[in-house]
Amino acid sequence: MTLLRGVLVFLFAILLNTPSKSFAAVNALECVENCSCNYDGYETPNTVCIGANFDDVIIHVQKLPFMSNLVIQKTPIYHLKKLPELNLAELELSDCTITSIEDYAFETLQHLKVLNLDKNLLTEIPKLKRSMRNYRVISAKHNMISKVSPDLFIDSQIINVDFSHNFLTDIEFLKRSKSSLESLNLSFNLLEQAYFSNFSHLSYVNLTHNRLKEPNSVRLMGLCDIVTLDVSHNGISTLDALNLTDSYVKHLYLHQNRLHSNVQLNFSEYKQLQELNLDDNEISMIPVLPTKLQILSLSNNKLDGSKIIFPEHGLRKVSLSGNALKTFSENAFINLEKVYIINLLNNNITSIDLHIYSENLVKVLFDEKTKLSINGINYERNDGRFPKPQHYDSGLNFFVFKIDEMSYL
Ligand SMILES: *[C@@H]1O[C@H](CO)[C@@H](O)[C@H](O)[C@H]1NC(C)=O
Ligand SMILES: *[C@@H]1O[C@H](CO)[C@@H](O)[C@H](O)[C@H]1NC(C)=O
Ligand SMILES: *[C@@H]1O[C@H](CO)[C@@H](O)[C@H](O)[C@H]1NC(C)=O
Ligand SMILES: *[C@@H]1O[C@H](CO)[C@@H](O)[C@H](O)[C@H]1NC(C)=O
Ligand SMILES: *[C@@H]1O[C@H](CO)[C@@H](O)[C@H](O)[C@H]1NC(C)=O
Ligand SMILES: *[C@@H]1O[C@H](CO)[C@@H](O)[C@H](O)[C@H]1NC(C)=O
Ligand SMILES: *[C@@H]1O[C@H](CO)[C@@H](O)[C@H](O)[C@H]1NC(C)=O
Repeated sequence: MTLLRGVLVFLFAILLNTPSKSFAAVNALECVENCSCNYDGYETPNTVCIGANFDDVIIHVQKLPFMSNLVIQKTPIYHLKKLPELNLAELELSDCTITSIEDYAFETLQHLKVLNLDKNLLTEIPKLKRSMRNYRVISAKHNMISKVSPDLFIDSQIINVDFSHNFLTDIEFLKRSKSSLESLNLSFNLLEQAYFSNFSHLSYVNLTHNRLKEPNSVRLMGLCDIVTLDVSHNGISTLDALNLTDSYVKHLYLHQNRLHSNVQLNFSEYKQLQELNLDDNEISMIPVLPTKLQILSLSNNKLDGSKIIFPEHGLRKVSLSGNALKTFSENAFINLEKVYIINLLNNNITSIDLHIYSENLVKVLFDEKTKLSINGINYERNDGRFPKPQHYDSGLNFFVFKIDEMSYL
C-alpha cells in the first residue's frame, strides 16, 4: 500500500514537475476548512473533518492520488446520496444527523473495508453495495435502526458487526454473513429471539439489554468457536431461555436477570465454561457447576449462608458479596482445593471460623465488622503493616486481608 502510494505521489510530482515539493503540493492543494489532512508519516493517509462542509470534503478526497481513510463528524448530512468514486479504505460518518441512505450509496467505493455510521438518526440500513466483498467491519451503533436489508452482507467476508443501541427485533440480516463473522454486538436492542447456527468463526456475541427471556429465545447451534456470550439484563428466569446445542461457551454473562433456584440451576451441560457471572439475580442455592469452571460470581443474590457448602471442585475465584449473609457454614469452602480468591464483602456476618484447605495462597475479602478466623486462627488488624502470608502446620498458605487493608492489593 505504502509502495503504491509512493509511486502515485511520485507520478503526481512528475506531473507537477516539482519533485521536491510534491508532498507539500498535495498537502497545500486542498485541506478543507475544519479538516486536518494527514498525508505524511507511517499511518494510512487520513482526512479528519469535524463540522466541515460535506460537499467540499468529498470534492477534496476525490482529488487525492492515493488510498486514504476519511473521518467526518458533526457535519449535518440528513439524506446521504450516492457517493462519487472515492479511493477509501475506511470511512466514518458519525454524529452527522443522517436520517436515510440512498440505495447503493457506497457502490463506487471499491476498496472500502471499514464503515462507521455511529450516532446518526438512521431507522433503516438499505443495501449499500451490490457486492460487499471487501467489507470487514461495519458499525452503526446509537441509531434508531429497526430495519436492515436482508442482502446487506451479500458476498461479504464481514468480521465485525456492531449494531448496538438500536431498535432491532430480528437478526435476519445476518443470514448472508455466516462463515466469516467473528464478533457481533447487538446489545441494547429489542430482540426477543436470537438464533445462530453455522457461524463457524463467531467467538463473541453480545446480547445484553434485549428481551431474550422466553424458553429457547437464545439458540446457538454448532458455534464451535464461541468464547464469550453476554445475555445479561434480559429478564431471564430459567436456563430454558438458552439453548446451546454443540456450542461450548467459555465466558457466560447472565448477571442482572431474574434467575432463581426454584428450578435447579444446572450448568453441567456447559462443558467448556470457565467464567460464569450470575450477579444480581434471585439465586438462593449454589448452582450445579460445570467441571471446568474457574470463576463464579454470585454477588447480590439471595443466598442462604447456612446452606452453602461447595462440592469438590476446581473453582479458583468465588464471589458471594452482597448477599446479606448473616450466618455462614464453616465448611462452605472446605472442598475447594484450588481456590485463591474468596469475596465475602458486603454481608452481615459477625463472626465465622472458616475451614479452608487450598493448595494456593488464598485471599479472603471480608467486611471490617466480621470477626474472621481461618482453621481456628484469628485474624486481627495488622497495625496497618503489610500482612504476610501465614504458614501452618499443614504446610498450606493463607493470605488474608481485611477490607481496610485492601489498599495494599
Ligand atoms: C468550521 O467550524 C466553525 C466552528 O464550528 C463554524 O463556525 C464554521 O462554519 C465551519 N466552517 C465550515 C466551512 O463549515
Ligand atoms: C460491542 O462489542 C465490541 C467487541 O467486539 C466492542 O468493541 C464494542 O465497544 C461494543 N459496543 C459497545 C457499544 O459497547
Ligand atoms: C456488551 O456490551 C456492553 C455495551 O453495550 C458492554 O458494556 C459490555 O461490557 C459488553 N459485554 C462484554 C462481555 O463484552
Ligand atoms: C449447518 O451445517 C450443517 C453441517 O455443515 C448442515 O447440515 C446444516 O444444514 C446447516 N444448517 C443451516 C441452517 O444452514
Ligand atoms: C434446542 O434447539 C434445537 C434446535 O432448534 C431443538 O431441536 C431442541 O429441541 C431445543 N432444545 C430444547 C430443550 O428446547
Ligand atoms: C445436572 O444435569 C445433568 C444432565 O444435564 C445430570 O446428569 C445431573 O444429574 C444434573 N445434576 C444434578 C445435581 O441434578
Ligand atoms: C445488614 O446490615 C446492614 C447494616 O450493616 C443493615 O442495614 C441491613 O438491614 C442488614 N441486612 C440484613 C438482611 O440483616
